[in-house]
Amino acid sequence: MKISDDARTLPARPPVSVQILDLLMGSWRAGVVSTFAELGVADAFRAGSLTPTQLAFRLGLERDISDRFCRAARAVGLIAEAPHGTLELTELGEALATESAHSMRNFARWSGSSADRATWAHLPTAVRTGRSPFAAVHGTGVWDFFDTHPDTGAVFNAAMTELSRHVIRPVVQGIDFSRYKSVTDIGGGRGALLSSVLREFPHLNGVLVDQPDVLARAPQVLQDAGVAERVTLAPGSFFDELPSGSDIFLISNVLHDWDDSRTRAILRNIATAMRPGDDLAVIEAVVGVDAQFDEAIGLMDMDMLVLCDGKQRSLEDFRVLLAELGIEVTGLSRAGLQSIVHGTKRP
Ligand SMILES: C[S@@+](CC[C@H](N)C(=O)[O-])C[C@H]1O[C@@H](n2cnc3c(N)ncnc32)[C@H](O)[C@@H]1O
Repeated sequence: MKISDDARTLPARPPVSVQILDLLMGSWRAGVVSTFAELGVADAFRAGSLTPTQLAFRLGLERDISDRFCRAARAVGLIAEAPHGTLELTELGEALATESAHSMRNFARWSGSSADRATWAHLPTAVRTGRSPFAAVHGTGVWDFFDTHPDTGAVFNAAMTELSRHVIRPVVQGIDFSRYKSVTDIGGGRGALLSSVLREFPHLNGVLVDQPDVLARAPQVLQDAGVAERVTLAPGSFFDELPSGSDIFLISNVLHDWDDSRTRAILRNIATAMRPGDDLAVIEAVVGVDAQFDEAIGLMDMDMLVLCDGKQRSLEDFRVLLAELGIEVTGLSRAGLQSIVHGTKRP
């Protein structure tokens, strides 16, 4: 059969029905990426190129399904043809290997987890009600869910560490830490951001606040960065009293997890811990700062809604929330998709 590829017969843009189909296939594409990560396909390829049959052997798959999955993964751009009928990782596929410096494997695993996917299936309910369906779907809110499902919790925390790599450099460069003696990172996870700040500024001490089970994994991160002796771990909740004494407080990608009333409660506890003149840096993807990120931030906003009743906020939202607590917004600096909202507690 002759297949014509005469470009003159192709319309300039696909029909709208095909464009809609392509949008909807986004979730199938994501499914292939997450499965690639979950099965450890990139790790299997790291030693060199493989045929689908060799991959099947390594991963304990049926040959036929390995063939079909490789075809899909190739179409999505994770692997590419190599000599002698083999396949090899592309740069994208490489980023799903556990040991890659750019690894997004855990974020891909979290995105494909039933905890995340089953919740997204209820986005219509979330949009109708304005509330997260997570507890109705899984029996508890997302943070308690991680306590009772530690394996998923570990993947989520590792995913957050992977994401935080994207903000670390711009944050370290976007704040003049030489002016401070001590920095507190609220909800700082395992300490990836704090470690980088302290490594760059050897005169600084740090305080890391997070839930006890998350902080239990922090010492390794801090030791690997060579900053452990300058960090005080403060296990606890940001809904309770917070340690004071630092002259700058960071809160990175935390407030978007919470609705306005819970966000006010967290910010009130931070404001109470701050002395007049102390600084606050809120690191978040801020709505309306740069049109090139409108889609990413709009989707992230829906993710926050379905998972945890959270939301992405605008600079004006932060200005209002912080002004209520005597914190003046003094500026905004860009950190790629994220922004840094700078504030100072008024005397
Ligand atoms: C989305 S992660 C952000 C982590 C890190 N700041 C970053 O930028 O990658 C949210 C963090 O808030 C922490 N968290 C959730 N509830 C908390 C609470 N009640 N008190 C302290 N930390 C909490 C989580 O354990 C998690 O580390």
